[in-house]
Amino acid sequence: MRKQIVAGNWKMNNDLAQTEALLTDLKKLEQTSGAEVMVAPTFTNLYHAFESLKNSSIEVIAQNMHFADKGAYTGEISAGMLKSIGIKTVILGHSERREYFNETDETLSKKVDTALANDMRVIFCFGEQLHDRKSGNHETVVEQQIKNALFHLEASSFQNIVLAYEPVWAIGTGETASPEQAQDMHAFIRASLAKQYGNDVADATTILYGGSCKPGNAKELFSKPDVDGGLIGGASLVAEDFFAIVNAF
Ligand code: PGA
Repeated sequence: MRKQIVAGNWKMNNDLAQTEALLTDLKKLEQTSGAEVMVAPTFTNLYHAFESLKNSSIEVIAQNMHFADKGAYTGEISAGMLKSIGIKTVILGHSERREYFNETDETLSKKVDTALANDMRVIFCFGEQLHDRKSGNHETVVEQQIKNALFHLEASSFQNIVLAYEPVWAIGTGETASPEQAQDMHAFIRASLAKQYGNDVADATTILYGGSCKPGNAKELFSKPDVDGGLIGGASLVAEDFFAIVNAF
């Protein structure tokens, strides 16, 4: 049985006081599902969040990292730095990183290698733009993104890879992929994995959906056989909404 995961991506939101308030709210809530729960605060609040949630079942994860071990990369954060404060999982390839910070399949492939070499787990994001969906190219685009960044890996590396399908047209727009669209794409992704690595890897790999996932639609999305959880942006900033999604399984 593969893992179910709900991860909150807080993006560039919440200063220290707001982060503290959200952490306090999160700790009051009760989890009734068996999903793994993660939150990704901004870098300045990572250590604080890690300490605060140390004795809870919520894992604190990073939103990004650099591929180099150290050096002259002003403004960047290394895998070693994350690990030194207890962080073991990193989100890579978010569409906002691709769009606003020019991250390419090539740089992402290096980042994935660095994370795995440091025994970190990766939540790898990808997804098509609206014009790809409209032209019927969405499967080709998605398959290419996964191939370029991940298919050089050994099968065993997939123990530390979580996939997150996030159609760009659904992120922060209030527009969600329908449960059927999500299921179709997740099944396609799993079939691509099976082609490359065999059924064992494909069946064991967690594939999350992201893009305007909310308390009102999470249950239906998560009821689909190939949707193993969600990467949640906006709705993860309100503790009750986030936990309603966590408990939607
Ligand atoms: P959203 O963001 O839930 O606000 O659409 C999802 C994401 O960017 O991971």
